[in-house]
Amino acid sequence: MADAARVLIVDDEDLVVEAIRAALRDEGYEFSRAADGLQALALVAERVPDLIILDVLIPGITGYEVCSILKNDPIGRFIPIMLVTGLSSTDEMVHGFDRGADDFIGKPFNAHELRARVRSLLRFKNLTDRLEHVSAVIETLANAVEARDRYTVGHARRVATLSAELARACGASDTELDDIRSAGILHDVGKIGTPEAVLNKPGALTAAERRQIEAHPVLGGRICRPLRTSANFRSIIRHHHERLDGSGYPDGLKGDEIHMAARTVALCDIFDALTTDRPYRKGLPQEVGLQIIRDEVKRGYWDRELFEVFVDLVGDGWHYEGTEFGMETEPAMPMQGAIVPPVPVAAP
Ligand SMILES: [Fe+2]
Repeated sequence: MADAARVLIVDDEDLVVEAIRAALRDEGYEFSRAADGLQALALVAERVPDLIILDVLIPGITGYEVCSILKNDPIGRFIPIMLVTGLSSTDEMVHGFDRGADDFIGKPFNAHELRARVRSLLRFKNLTDRLEHVSAVIETLANAVEARDRYTVGHARRVATLSAELARACGASDTELDDIRSAGILHDVGKIGTPEAVLNKPGALTAAERRQIEAHPVLGGRICRPLRTSANFRSIIRHHHERLDGSGYPDGLKGDEIHMAARTVALCDIFDALTTDRPYRKGLPQEVGLQIIRDEVKRGYWDRELFEVFVDLVGDGWHYEGTEFGMETEPAMPMQGAIVPPVPVAAP
């Protein structure tokens, strides 16, 4: 049987808290309570609730601000938030929804209505929990590839991060960024089907071995097919080794046939491959890597305009937050970001 849903009530008025608890008493939920916004954020950081019932007018930071902070947090954004307010104007509701609130209830509230709304939000939370599991599957697949290829530890995550930054600089939408991140993480997942001896071979590859390597974009697309959410990014995986002049693989696509997202991941993949250690050579300095790519742009392999944006992004030395570029890092699980309570504002 599933654990009881955890409901966090954020309100400084004891009577309101008691009324909410009484209305939901028979639902079997587990309750916690915070009397102000900062305490609420601290409780969420300690243990993530399944639902937050949040009064707008609380001491210190307002319910709107708490809502905003949580909805901009990697974990907090998955917690449904119901704002409780005595204010009933449309403007106030719009203000709350703009800050990411999932629902509203006015004071005084009807107990039946509160129960129905809470049940509905918890159904929504259940759904987002399932989405979180898809993320875990993606991470697991990426880890499986890296476990077989000691030279690419961290490569998939670096390509995902860099590709998303490049796409953002080009004006990609949030949905496109999500797809590019997923494709970046999984672009080499097809290497699960490549023999380890070939993956880690220090010398030149035979023609047969090269064919085995070059099968990985197609296999990667196939591996991801059962993931419904992969529909938008499978083509990026399949085409991350295509070149604009048609000399890439597996389909020999040319020019506009190669989607911008695939060009983006391809460029970041090449840059990371050049500037980190491989079985056959040490990682090159970033400026040398950029020069090699610049020469390949002139040969017609890569998108010139995209490369210019890329140079603006990494030209002064690209490094990942808290790490030196190219260093092995502990895998960062995307759904386990820390919710850091904000620094308390100075008392007036
Ligand atoms: Fe690849």
